[in-house]
Amino acid sequence: MATTDRLGRVVRDLRISVTDRCNFRCVYCMPKEVFGSSYRFLGRSEVLTFEEIERVARAFVDNGVTKIRLTGGEPLVRRDIERLVERLAAIDGVDDLTMTTNGVLLPQKARALADAGLTRVTVSLDALDDATFQAMNDVGVPVAKVIEGIEAAVSAGLGPVKVNAVVKRGLNEHAIIQLADRFRGTAVTVRYIEFMDVGTTNGWNLADVLPAQEVIDRIGARWPLDPVGRTTPGEVAARWRYRDGAGEIGVISSVTQPFCGACTRARISADGTLYTCLFAAAGHDLRSLLRDGSTGTLEARIAAVWRGRSDRYSELRAAATTSSARVEMSAIGG
Ligand code: GTP
Ligand code: 5AD
Ligand code: SF4
Ligand code: SF4
Repeated sequence: MATTDRLGRVVRDLRISVTDRCNFRCVYCMPKEVFGSSYRFLGRSEVLTFEEIERVARAFVDNGVTKIRLTGGEPLVRRDIERLVERLAAIDGVDDLTMTTNGVLLPQKARALADAGLTRVTVSLDALDDATFQAMNDVGVPVAKVIEGIEAAVSAGLGPVKVNAVVKRGLNEHAIIQLADRFRGTAVTVRYIEFMDVGTTNGWNLADVLPAQEVIDRIGARWPLDPVGRTTPGEVAARWRYRDGAGEIGVISSVTQPFCGACTRARISADGTLYTCLFAAAGHDLRSLLRDGSTGTLEARIAAVWRGRSDRYSELRAAATTSSARVEMSAIGG
């Protein structure tokens, strides 16, 4: 039975972060100055085991979840991740099991993930020229590595594959048209994401946000676009179709046009903390319950937290005058 929050929103999507580690240091997510050699990542015993993650997932499915997305950090750096996929794919009631990844390990992993039951993947790629992409990932990974990952996902049947591009004004604006051009006419859909003020370490500034409408205007001026209705309620991307039949793009405008009213997403960090908003300052500890309590308590706890939920951070952002503590993107997986 679906559990509803204080604003009448059900819990439909569960985003599970399987690790807080990543093989990239994207400047907008894990800046090197903060996530350097002295940064204290979660220890082994702090991270939920696959068995524990499965129990959490089942408890959420009992509360109404039908979509599960694995995130990180970078989910593919978690060893044997396909074993977790297998466990989650076997849960009755999960009809979409996906992953958001930086793609670098997909050439090694795509086949195993597909065999284990992963439905599809979303790959993050912010630019098509090495200079910009390397300035963004900050670990020197070239674009070709990610393209290989995307191709591996497509051939393994992990589609339709989506590409996420975070747009930061002045940094990768030129990539907007290049990405559209590269993936038009392929089975891959590019989604442009407004740079968000997630966490407190990425130096966010409103002036760095290039509004989604501007992305549409720029692409539309080159290749005319028509809006497409959202396929599922609560979908974060607004979809647009190329008039010439070359496929679709999406824009995620969480800063300029927030979509909290339809937000059906719950997030679990790798240490088993439940966050009811991407911008939450604090979460709810499920790990102690998992380790000490019964499964029944877990389900009830999730239901109680969700019933009390009233988050709508993005809608309130414009009105906010002070900055507050917020969970980091790399802990919560976007
Ligand atoms: P699909 O099921 O393929 O549509 O995936 P998705 O868009 O839900 O997941 P993905 O991980 O690709 O997220 C895309 C971007 O949207 C990321 O930058 C997320 O941080 C952002 N995003 C996802 N959910 C939310 C949300 O609830 N609120 C906000 N503000 N941003 C979100
Ligand atoms: N703003 C917008 N998107 C972000 N992502 C990571 N940090 C930010 C941010 N500050 C994106 C990643 C990935 C998705 C899960 O979130 O690029 O595609
Ligand atoms: Fe890693 Fe993704 Fe964050 Fe980049 S955006 S540092 S790839 S978790
Ligand atoms: Fe949901 Fe919070 Fe994002 Fe609003 S800001 S859409 S409530 S996660």
